Amino acid sequence: MSPIILAIESSCDETSASVIRNGKVLNNIIATQVIHRKYGGVVPELASRAHQQNIVATVHVALDDSGTAKTDLNAVAFTRGPGLMGSLLVGVSYAKGLSLGLNIPLIEVNHMQAHVLAHFIDDPKPTFPFLCLTVSGGHTQIVLVRDYLDMEVIGQTQDDAVGEAFDKAAKIMGLPYPGGPMIDQYAQMGNPKAYKFPDTSMPGLDFSFSGIKTAFLYFLRKETANNPSFVEENRNDICASLQQTLINMLLTRLQEASLQTGIKTIAIAGGVSANTGLRKSLLTVGEALGWNIFIPAFQYCTDNAAMIAMAAHYKFLKGEFCSLDVVPLARMPL
Ligand code: KG4
Ligand code: ZN
Repeated sequence: MSPIILAIESSCDETSASVIRNGKVLNNIIATQVIHRKYGGVVPELASRAHQQNIVATVHVALDDSGTAKTDLNAVAFTRGPGLMGSLLVGVSYAKGLSLGLNIPLIEVNHMQAHVLAHFIDDPKPTFPFLCLTVSGGHTQIVLVRDYLDMEVIGQTQDDAVGEAFDKAAKIMGLPYPGGPMIDQYAQMGNPKAYKFPDTSMPGLDFSFSGIKTAFLYFLRKETANNPSFVEENRNDICASLQQTLINMLLTRLQEASLQTGIKTIAIAGGVSANTGLRKSLLTVGEALGWNIFIPAFQYCTDNAAMIAMAAHYKFLKGEFCSLDVVPLARMPL
């Protein structure tokens, strides 16, 4: 059988739908919620409402674009968690409705597992076992990936996620949400050695980013007290220096994980893996250490339904379906 699956992603602020046929992703339709920009972060209630407004059209575009009728579907998949409860509920409820109405199986997908499985959408694909640094707005994890559906978190943040550190630093500088891509852009024109920020990493494989956020706030307060135009005059250098500190914190732990496990096949995933500086530094470090590196295409780094579809495909092959009683899990572990 060549399964045709519709996948829905609604964990945060992107409403997305994708159709996968026999393991080949046919499309990746994303409705981005711009409403959050003016609030400097995702407003959960607004996100939930926007998902409700967008989901029907997004799913229909994914079906029409791939030439799929609802009656062609063999299963419907959705993100069960982790994510915002009100956002997840929209995707879960819609998927349940389709499953019930079409009498097809329902597949629940873990959002963090799906970020890792984004690596199997296109070639080249990593071979098992590999390490995946999953870096997003809500998570920072080093994942030991033994098989498609066999993964273990071996290192993670003890407080903020690295994406959150990017976004909060950007907010402090007066940049709009999401700040990560903006810092990335300014950093490309700046000197990463212009300012020094403390490396607040922890011993072992875990991360901590709350200290650097505070250090950054105090640094800017002090400098702007002396010169109110400090940020405007030095934005590129500030962004480049902060970004490089965050990247070094990530890569130090990743190197340690590679040493400890002996694994040299290394992947990155999640929204922050779109970062130009991280991609460059990873390639440089990896070349020196003989790593085999896998970086997803930009469209599969940030939240998208194609990665949910990929995960659903492997679950379908293993017969891993869920019941209509399933509920979203805001803090779903990997
Ligand atoms: O994976 P994702 O789309 O959503 C979550 O599951 O959280 O990740 C969103 C995060 C945000 O913090 C955003 O600022 C960050 O990814 N991000 C970036 C870049 N593109 C997105 N951070 C740094 N550089 C980028 N180019
Ligand atoms: Zn994500």
